[in-house]
Amino acid sequence: MEKVRLNNGSSLPYLGTGTNTYGKENNEYQGDLNGDFSALKSAIDLGYRLIDTAISYRNEAGVGETVSKSGIDRSAFYLTTKIPADNQYIKDKDTVRHTLEQSLKNLQTDYIDLYLIHKPIEDEDKLKLTWEVLEEYVGKGKIKSIGVSNFSIEDLKKLDQYATIKPAVNQIESNPTKWNNEWIKYMFAENIRPQAWGPMKTTDAHRQVLADIGEKYGKTWAHVLLRYQTQRGVIVIPKSHSRNNQEANLSSLDFTLSDEDIEKIDQL
Ligand SMILES: NC(=O)c1ccc[n+]([C@@H]2O[C@H](COP(=O)([O-])OP(=O)(O)OC[C@H]3O[C@@H](n4cnc5c(N)ncnc54)[C@H](OP(=O)(O)O)[C@@H]3O)[C@@H](O)[C@H]2O)c1
Repeated sequence: MEKVRLNNGSSLPYLGTGTNTYGKENNEYQGDLNGDFSALKSAIDLGYRLIDTAISYRNEAGVGETVSKSGIDRSAFYLTTKIPADNQYIKDKDTVRHTLEQSLKNLQTDYIDLYLIHKPIEDEDKLKLTWEVLEEYVGKGKIKSIGVSNFSIEDLKKLDQYATIKPAVNQIESNPTKWNNEWIKYMFAENIRPQAWGPMKTTDAHRQVLADIGEKYGKTWAHVLLRYQTQRGVIVIPKSHSRNNQEANLSSLDFTLSDEDIEKIDQL
């Protein structure tokens, strides 16, 4: 799969799978954990290697077990998880260390490829100490890359005051209902890689425009939407409980949208 290079020289696939409803009753975010990771297993079978989880999803351990049981070498995977911006996880440096160690244990691994701060941490002392421990874990080789999520331009500037290691990624919402293009432009200028969560969020009207564009390429609205993002350098992590959709999303990387079509999508 086509790979993207981060500001620290490491690389990862342009397309991965989200997991925020995996292992849960009725495939609902708030659903009780039921241990059903068949959707993740299906994604791995199809070739997904970039896997996005988070402590808040409560499913790190199930993700870790599914990856481990796949029998595929750990080095083939790119695992992302996230530390919540809640005091319970970031109270002091030892608490952050404990949180990171727990993620390593849950994911059944010696190292995590990408560790993100899930949401902006308002308290500057807590932001500083959390980032310092993330940097410490990069030093120890237990985390390969560190980044943030849902950080605005102001949040990134605040972090820049303390960071010795620049965030490699900012995972933010990006889809036709909210492109967040001002943030994305800033990130590209700063060499921070945007990664889009909620990439499939669309209205009927959006899907019609995207489907019309897709016709001449023999592609669906979903292919066109995902390709628009990856073609402009944005990593995508669509999540699906349907094997067909998982498979379809993988084939969004094998065509090139024309400048004219990109302009049409820009206008959505
Ligand atoms: N950092 C953050 O704050 C944050 C916030 C939200 C999410 N995330 C991460 O981002 C991941 C993705 O976001 P998301 O799960 O909220 O939403 P999403 O991936 O944008 O959308 C998921 C929905 O899209 C549908 N879908 C997927 N592929 C499709 C296709 N080819 N055709 C038609 N429908 C398709 C799925 O339905 P089917 O199951 O029927 O295919 C599912 O209902 C999450 O799982 C999570 O890992 C991060």
